[in-house]
Amino acid sequence: MSAAPIQLIRHCRGAWRLRRAPGQLQQLQRLLDAHSFWASGRSQRELSRMLTGSQAVISAWQGSRLVGFGRATSDGVFRAVLWDVVVAGEHQGRGLGRRIVEALLQAPALQGVERTYLMTTNSAGFYEQLGFTAVDSQQLMLRRSSSTNVKH
Ligand SMILES: CC(C)(COP(=O)(O)OP(=O)(O)OC[C@H]1O[C@@H](n2cnc3c(N)ncnc32)[C@H](O)[C@@H]1OP(=O)(O)O)[C@@H](O)C(=O)NCCC(=O)NCCS
Repeated sequence: MSAAPIQLIRHCRGAWRLRRAPGQLQQLQRLLDAHSFWASGRSQRELSRMLTGSQAVISAWQGSRLVGFGRATSDGVFRAVLWDVVVAGEHQGRGLGRRIVEALLQAPALQGVERTYLMTTNSAGFYEQLGFTAVDSQQLMLRRSSSTNVKH
């Protein structure tokens, strides 16, 4: 029996369905906990705020199961940043990550934006295939907040 097809959903502003439909936020939490080191341990309340503050959100579903996710923030003109692109382990290496990034780049909030950035620890080769290039001329600067329980 062949596996059910994977459907991508481009969420409308605020990602209401992902935040409010029963069990969906829990599935997002589990996906991030299981397949990302930087986004594990986020509470559902934090994830809901994160979705509200994202201008582009893509989720990937096989039936009722969340198997992929990605989001972006954007000012709509000059700068956008991709965040939290994750594919469930058994679906990795089959082109789903590419589909999610392409859908993010095609989202209205990213259309025509001058520069789109991302940070990656070990997936640079994946993003190079999607048109991103490593930048040597700039430094990544980070200021950690002591007022939240965010770890990474
Ligand atoms: C990185 C990730 C999103 C890629 O998704 P995926 O569905 O496995 O990737 P795809 O199948 O769409 O791969 C597209 C291409 O990129 C390549 N690729 C995938 N992951 C790669 C990696 N880590 N490094 C280099 N190349 C990679 C694939 O080989 C494929 O090349 P091909 O078209 O020549 O076959 C996924 O592996 C993942 O969720 N990893 C864990 C979380 C993570 O590290 N996310 C990155 C956040 S910055």
